Amino acid sequence: VFNTVAQAPADVIFSLTAGYKADKHPQKINVGVGAFRTDELKPYVLPVVKKADTILFNNADLDHEYLPIAGEPSYTRAATKLILGDNSPAIAQGRTGAVQTISGTGANHTGAAFLAAHFKGSGKVYISNPTWANHRNIFASLGFDVQEYPYWHPATKSLDYEGMINTIREAPSGSIFILHPCAHNPTGVDPTQEQWKGIADAMREKNQFTFFDCAYQGFASGDLDKDAWAVRYFVEQGFELFVAQSFAKNFGLYGERAGNLTFVCKTPEDTKRVLSQFEKLQRSEISNPPAYGSRIVDIVLNDPALYAEWKENLKYMSSRIIDMRQKLYQHLVDLKTPGTWNHIVDQIGMFSFTGLKAPQVKVMIEKYHIYLTDNGRISMAGLSNSNVEYFARAVDDVVRN
Ligand code: LMR
Repeated sequence: VFNTVAQAPADVIFSLTAGYKADKHPQKINVGVGAFRTDELKPYVLPVVKKADTILFNNADLDHEYLPIAGEPSYTRAATKLILGDNSPAIAQGRTGAVQTISGTGANHTGAAFLAAHFKGSGKVYISNPTWANHRNIFASLGFDVQEYPYWHPATKSLDYEGMINTIREAPSGSIFILHPCAHNPTGVDPTQEQWKGIADAMREKNQFTFFDCAYQGFASGDLDKDAWAVRYFVEQGFELFVAQSFAKNFGLYGERAGNLTFVCKTPEDTKRVLSQFEKLQRSEISNPPAYGSRIVDIVLNDPALYAEWKENLKYMSSRIIDMRQKLYQHLVDLKTPGTWNHIVDQIGMFSFTGLKAPQVKVMIEKYHIYLTDNGRISMAGLSNSNVEYFARAVDDVVRN
């Protein structure tokens, strides 16, 4: 039965981690996967997560019963409040609902599956060029016609705002646009607030559907509210929309798969019906969401002292990344590496889009044992005070040769 099954290509990001692990070179570096590391290049368990763990562990009433199909309400409510803001009128008006998902991927998938079944649009989904590789996989697997909107402008190493706006205007009405509200993956380039206003205008003019994918709230600027600005602005402007949230990065809960999909509708009645369809969908896909990671997030988001401590942990992570950006930039300037490198410090979030081309990336991997995706994206968290100079020297070499 299976002799006609074609070999699928390996996942670009996770195959780099496998290559890195198998590499015995003492100076190897993994800047492939977007996972935070300490300056000792160790995974980071957030101190606030350790505290929440202890609370969970000592809770004598804790059991392993099923969670409700749409997830634990205290968790989904807190996640919605985190992204839409404490004083969101949409929440107060009962126009928001949420479903607990298997991290950000699950939130994208669940949202996409819902839209495939219930959204009477053009059937086209627009993703940024470039974007996180999984966006295409997820939407294509549900039968959408996946198109791209321009995002990265190679010559200026910044946002192709005109290209993006023009595509929103030229796309057939009722198309779905996947937008990254902060810390764009892979470029680290975000629209300014003025540009977001222009994007919202174009989306409204053409009646396009907004699907935000927010995997880095708190990572971009270290400020949870600032990083949610675009989402809140769209909600304020009256858009009906979806927001996918992941707690992999901002809680360091990569393997626990804690995510959420918030939806904002026109009326409380619509919200109720939409939620019922999400529950039906979720039941057939995962039945009930997993409890461990979401319990950690639930504890922290609903306790003012732990929430304050989480913000400190977030500041530590975002500052380490900003520090690495500055050090990498300075080494490249000191080495007089040909080209301009300001984009390294101008970009924000977990990633930097270096501008390295695929053949240069190949040399980085084969000669220097530095693992990065062939679009030139690097995860800043893979750099440290001990390896950033080696990394810069490798970049200098591949750029010159
Ligand atoms: C990344 O982009 O490296 C991360 O979001 C990990 C993943 O799932 O691809």
